[in-house]
Parts: sequence; structure tokens; C-alpha cells
Amino acid sequence: MRRITMTLAAGAAAAALAVTLPASARWHTGDPQDQSLRALAADHGLYVGTAIDVGALSDPTYSQIAASQFSTVTAENAMKWETIEPERGVYNWAPAEQFMAFAKAHDQKVRGHVLVWQNQLPAWLTEGVADGSISKAELRGILHDYITAVVTHFQGRIWQWDVVNEAVTDPWDSPDGHITYKGFWYENLGAGYIADAFRWARAADRQALLTYNDYNIDAFGDGGPLDKTQFVYDMVKDLRAQGVPIDVVGSQAHLSTRYGNYSPFQIADAQQKFASLGVATALTEVDVRNLMPAEQTGDTMNPLLQAQAYDYSALMQGCLASRHCISYTVWGFDDGHSWTNTWDFGAGAGAEAMATLYTADYQPKLAYRAIQADLAFTGAPQVLSRIPQHPTR
Ligand code: G3I
Repeated sequence: MRRITMTLAAGAAAAALAVTLPASARWHTGDPQDQSLRALAADHGLYVGTAIDVGALSDPTYSQIAASQFSTVTAENAMKWETIEPERGVYNWAPAEQFMAFAKAHDQKVRGHVLVWQNQLPAWLTEGVADGSISKAELRGILHDYITAVVTHFQGRIWQWDVVNEAVTDPWDSPDGHITYKGFWYENLGAGYIADAFRWARAADRQALLTYNDYNIDAFGDGGPLDKTQFVYDMVKDLRAQGVPIDVVGSQAHLSTRYGNYSPFQIADAQQKFASLGVATALTEVDVRNLMPAEQTGDTMNPLLQAQAYDYSALMQGCLASRHCISYTVWGFDDGHSWTNTWDFGAGAGAEAMATLYTADYQPKLAYRAIQADLAFTGAPQVLSRIPQHPTR
């Protein structure tokens, strides 16, 4: 519809329109292949994002792509507890503020990552709990104070906060045959910490959207006791019924081409089911890694690159299909800066990699073109603009 309007408006009025249109609407002229992801996504009201490695911002090509392609950013590590409070009571805001300055300079919304997680906690905290010098009652107070301090520090500057991250088990680590809660916070405080964390975050920032974020919740399974997505759905439903201010469910979407993965319809179904609870959804850490072949040739790599493009695209289409899916964030955009390069997924460190949209020398891969085309060639009736999301009071 908007394309037609532009066609009719071409000619004398075009110059005036070109001046008044925001930069994000640049796709109206030229080849969509030359348009940035952020510009194409803006037409859907969708924010497209990336995790940022603060140390890489000194690389001009990295910075240029991060700034021009993405309208929302997440700090990959700079806003985690071990970085922000390395010593008890001593806050280190500098890396996070460097990241925030980059986002502000490039008109990017910020996803705050992460307030409550069992990984990358400072040693003073985990060791204090382990040796008994921090009691459980004190631990709850420490969590309250940390959430309050961090959310207050960034108050007014965060679009979505990942408040609680990865709180539940996976089928493969659920020996008693059902999904349950897991991790440091559950083990020490019980499941009540989840509601507490959201309430404390809301008290410190009335505007930020508050997110429950997890992996392996991209699609529903059989709805039974080993269906993690169903468990998270039920959890969010219960918490909302209790008035806990959860605004967004974030599906991390770390995929690998070695698995079957999902069709766009399965992704869309999950996005829509979560939205039916009254929350928005977001894809928060998308990447699709490949089990690297011993020899990298066209024969071995082309099928992987195509499978990868399919998965990126299925996720984008599933997100576009729900008007409540507000952002699609990749967990690093180039193969040179990806956690998969050093992580051991079972086949050895770095054995599953090449997970991002760009090669290590910053050439867009087929996956980039696939989601670029999804953004360019979709519209009504199946794809409508996002519905604005307001924080739950
Ligand atoms: O900072 C130290 C550095 O001082 C040291 O020299 C170096 C040597 O190993 O390690 C550095 O820390 C690394 C840190 O990233 C910063 O680069 C850790 O070893 C490494 O384990 C850590 O990995 C991060 C991982 O979370 C840890 O859990 C990844 O970069 C980060 O991408 C990843 O992100 C998570 C999300 O937060 C939550 N969802 C899953 C996702 C992928 O695991």
C-alpha cells in the first residue's frame, strides 16, 4: 500500500517527501538489496538488532555495519554481573556506558542483558554462597539491591530488560522426566525469585519492557512434561495471573543446521501463542551454527549455508507473522565475532561455528540475503505492522 502511495506521489512531490521521510524509510527508493536491514524492518515497525562485542567497536568495519544495519543493540557481555560488580559494592559502568554511547550515537534502542542469570556471576557472590559467608536471606537482599542499582542506573535508557534468563531445564537435563527450574538462583532462593526480580525491576523503571528470556523455546512440542516451551508458557501465564510485570517473552533462537529445526509456521505459532497471554515476543539471540566439515569446499559448504539461510528466514517469517513480535536480534553479526568460535557444543570447541549473517571478512552471506528479502517482499495481508507494546503496571 505504501509503495503505491509513493508511486502516485512521484514526480513533483517526491523531492519534498524525500526530505520529510525518516532515514529509516530509505527503502522507498532504489533496489531493496541495497537497503539496510534496519531500514527494511522499519516498514514493519520491527526492530532488527545485534549483540555488540564492545571490544570490537574499535574496528571501523565492525562499527559501520553495527551502526548501519541494526536499530536495536544488546551488550554481549558488558552488562553482566561479573562485569558490572566485579568486587562487592564496586560498580564498573565503563564498558556498558561505552556500549550505551554507541547506541545513542546511532539512534538504536537498547536491550539490557542481563539482570538475573546463573552464568557470569562475580566470584565474590558464588564463592560467598558456597562457603556460607553469604546466607540465603542475605542473598535475596543482594539480588534486590543489584537489580535496583542497575535498573536505576540505566533508567529511561533501556527499551527491553532481560530480567530473568534461562531459568528452566531442558529435556536432556531433566532426569526426573519433566521440565523444572534450575540454576544458582533457584537452588538458593526457590522459584519465588522470578516474581521478585520482575517486581523489583518494575519498581526501578516504569517504562522498560521486562523480558523473560530463554533458549529452546522457539516452537511448541507435544505439550507434555518434557515440552520446555509449554513449561515457559505455563510459567508466564501463572506469573501474569499473579500480576507479575512480565511484558515480553524472549526466544533466544540459538540453532544449529545439524538439527531438523522448524518451519516458519511453527515459529509463528509459538510467537502467536505467547502473544495470546498478553505479552509481546522477541527473538533475542538468533544464530545458526554449522557442524564444520573437515574440508571446506563448495560441495561441503553450500548445503550448510543454504540450511543456515533457511533457519534465519524461518525465524524472520515467524516473527513477521505475529504483530506482537517486536524485535529480531542476532547474537553477533559476523563469523569473526561469535561465541560459537570457542564454545564446545559437544563436538569440541569451535567445531560448530560460522553461525552469523556475515563472513569473518564482513561479506554478507546467503542468510543475510534471505532475511533481507523476507523484510523486503512481505506485507499485507499476512504481515502487518507491529502493535505498540506498553509496560504492564
Ligand atoms: O573476560 C574474560 C577474559 O578476561 C579472559 O581472558 C578470557 C579467556 O577465556 O575469557 C573472558 O571471558 C569470556 C567472556 O565470554 C568474555 O569474552 C568467557 O571465557 C566466555 O565464557 C564468555 O562467553 C560468553 C557466554 O555467554 C558465557 O556464558 C559469550 O561471549 C556470550 O556470547 C554468551 O552469551 C550467552 C547469553 O548471554 C545468554 N544466552 C546464551 C548466550 C550464548 O552462550
